[in-house]
Amino acid sequence: MIVVTTNAELNKIVDSQRSQNKIIGLVPTMGALHAGHASLVERSVRENDFTVVSVFVNPTQFNDKNDLKNYPRTFDADCDLLRSLGADAVYAPSVEEVYPEPDTRQFSYPPIDTVMEGAKRPGHFNGVCQIVSKLFMMVRPDRAYFGEKDFQQIAVVRAMTEALKLPVEIRPCPIVREDSGLALSSRNTLLTPDELQIAPNIYKTLRESLVYAQNNTVAETISFVITTLNAIDGLEVEYYEIVDGRTLQPVSSWEDSNDIVGCITVYCGHTPIRLIDNIRYKE
Ligand code: PAF
Repeated sequence: MIVVTTNAELNKIVDSQRSQNKIIGLVPTMGALHAGHASLVERSVRENDFTVVSVFVNPTQFNDKNDLKNYPRTFDADCDLLRSLGADAVYAPSVEEVYPEPDTRQFSYPPIDTVMEGAKRPGHFNGVCQIVSKLFMMVRPDRAYFGEKDFQQIAVVRAMTEALKLPVEIRPCPIVREDSGLALSSRNTLLTPDELQIAPNIYKTLRESLVYAQNNTVAETISFVITTLNAIDGLEVEYYEIVDGRTLQPVSSWEDSNDIVGCITVYCGHTPIRLIDNIRYKE
């Protein structure tokens, strides 16, 4: 596995693979890798000739300075894991390498990027589009792999890829969970043992809501999820929205769409740690 930190080195590798007509898979990450990332890398290794994993904590997508400062960084362990998974190259640039000057590009794909995370984290998706577009242009992948935990991110990246006509296929991959049901996230390492006990209630409640939804309206189901979770000491729902899986716009009835997803953000514990998850009601 080759580890590169500069665009020039990356370019050389990509040129060489391209000249041999190799199919390139890209797994963009911010490091602190876990089994969820591993599933993306395994899939890319299986489906492509050459897999590049980027490890870069992208400052422009953090709207909270403390979140950026506290974001877990475990580069050596990340490289060990990626080597064991058969990744071919790791691109781990510095902030200066990626942003030699401030990136002033604006990306806007309303209404997909204005709801939920877009509304709660102003500038977040603009930063995601800045880094992902740079990665797509540098790595020139045939396929890129993203985890469905960040459901809205996939929709925004798809919109950007289409708008910029980038020749890359976005491949979403299922959420990987702890045995407890908690969706794997790099942020889980920031949870205390007590918080790790209560956080699984998020997915437990989402699953219960699938049954509840069979005899209740969308509004009642939203209220069921929020009330159940807020009643648990240490959890506070920021939003729970039930949306059309393609447009990400709220649905008001189960008949509104044949693709319906519930997206949640919950603050857990005293720090607090912001956790996201989602569940599909209809597909
Ligand atoms: O999902 C993430 O880890 C990040 O948003 C991504 C796609 C690597 C861009 O920094």
